[in-house]
Amino acid sequence: MKITKICCIGAGYVGGPTMAVIAQKCPNIQVTVVDLNEQRIKDWNDPNTDNIPIYEPGLSEIVAEARGRNLFFSTEVEKAIDEAQVIFISVNTPTKTYGKGKGMAADLKYIELCARQIAKVAKQNKIVVEKSTLPVRTAEAIKSILDNTGNGVQFQILSNPEFLAEGTAVTDLLNPDRILIGGDSTPEGEEAINALVDVYANWVSKDKILKTNVWSSELSKLTANAFLAQRISSINAMSELCEKTGADISEVAKAIGMDSRIGSKFLKASVGFGGSCFQKDILNLVYIAKSYGLTEVADYWEQVIIMNDYQKRRFSNKIVQTLYNTVADKKIAFLGWAFKKDTNDTRESAAIYVADDLINEQAKIAVYDPKVSRNKMLSDLDYLETRSAEENNSKVVTFDNAYDACKDAHAIAILTEWDEFTSYDWQKIYDSMHKPAFLFDGRNILNSKEMESIGFIYKGIGS
Ligand code: NAD
Ligand code: UGA
Repeated sequence: MKITKICCIGAGYVGGPTMAVIAQKCPNIQVTVVDLNEQRIKDWNDPNTDNIPIYEPGLSEIVAEARGRNLFFSTEVEKAIDEAQVIFISVNTPTKTYGKGKGMAADLKYIELCARQIAKVAKQNKIVVEKSTLPVRTAEAIKSILDNTGNGVQFQILSNPEFLAEGTAVTDLLNPDRILIGGDSTPEGEEAINALVDVYANWVSKDKILKTNVWSSELSKLTANAFLAQRISSINAMSELCEKTGADISEVAKAIGMDSRIGSKFLKASVGFGGSCFQKDILNLVYIAKSYGLTEVADYWEQVIIMNDYQKRRFSNKIVQTLYNTVADKKIAFLGWAFKKDTNDTRESAAIYVADDLINEQAKIAVYDPKVSRNKMLSDLDYLETRSAEENNSKVVTFDNAYDACKDAHAIAILTEWDEFTSYDWQKIYDSMHKPAFLFDGRNILNSKEMESIGFIYKGIGS
């Protein structure tokens, strides 16, 4: 089977960049990305591709090349489903906020809505691809809905999880470590898998395209995120021990990372990991393990989250303790709000939780982030429901440059590792602050000796 028409439901951080790269690399395939969110689609169609809703280095150029040629963004979900041979489901799968599994399980209501809509519309056989991150065995539920509510056409369900990281989405998509495709071992299943392999083979070498059964594929995605997050919690746990013993976490990370069995990546101690997925996916994994009665397995992975929450709280506590046990009415400048550099995404960013703690201590927070708007920062805080929106609004001031944010501050906290922070005139910033001037580097991006020689009281993570 030769694929010429693809539809993707969900024009978010995964659907948008993934489909843009498929369209760029496969000019003979028509790719339509659909979403219920009209504003989001309008933004994807903005004539100036610098205004597309997701900031990722290199993305606006790819959209400019492919959009209108073979890449389309639309709100006409049913039309796109009807026309496509392959339908990617790339909608959000957040942690449930209600009912059974609240706070742990993945909320699959958006997935089920997609399955029902596909079943209703499809008049020809289709391949349905799980691109969203899903609990193991979700394909079974999707298949049941498709087969029981459809028009008698045949569906093949594939699992094709996405491993891109935000901030490097384009390079990750162009040069993936592997493409994982899970499907049935029946002749029809294998035909569907091979059709999807042929799409990726336009730019990914076949030895990097891995075929598995559906359950292995679904579970591999949760496992990958659990392992990655576990490395961060492990190094962060060691960071506190370093602070107590005089060891230095960056030296420890380098020393262990040179062991080829451990590897050097993902060993940066930090204020704690954020992002839309690590926490949600591990909670989901814990929930699944518990639902099979695997208490020890569940407890093992839950500790990764417990450690991460502790690391965020430890950072805000350290600020309060260092500032003579009170930050009331003090201006604390935040450099960075995004959960990592090179993205405008703030979901689960450590900055939100640190700000919330410090506002509880009646601090005034002055934030500068190169890509995050004030409205986004406030809605992140409001979402926690710790206090009224009016109070958040009055406690947070935002600036369009770091120098103004830091002026007259008692302390600076670096929450995101944006490159520009390392090239500032730190003497000028120091001169404009209250003394003693405290600098809490939650990302260890500055040189402690240099900062101390300027006069800062510098506190990194793990040293
Ligand atoms: P997102 O919230 O940015 O985008 C999801 C989009 O789906 C939204 O625009 C929403 O309006 C749309 N949507 C929801 N229900 C819909 C429906 N019934 N019909 C049409 N549109 C609908 O989410 P995301 O970050 O792109 O994540 C999507 C999935 O990919 C999640 O399962 C996530 O775990 C997984 N994932 C995310 C990343 C990442 O870096 N963000 C990486 C790998 C995997
Ligand atoms: C992560 C995974 O890296 C992707 O492979 C996966 O596809 C994605 O989750 C997903 O499923 O959503 P992402 O969350 O976008 O990607 O970004 P990461 O680079 O993994 O960073 C996550 C968080 O960990 C950030 O807050 C980052 O600052 C932090 N981090 C990362 C550290 O604190 N230390 C490190 O060494 C690495």
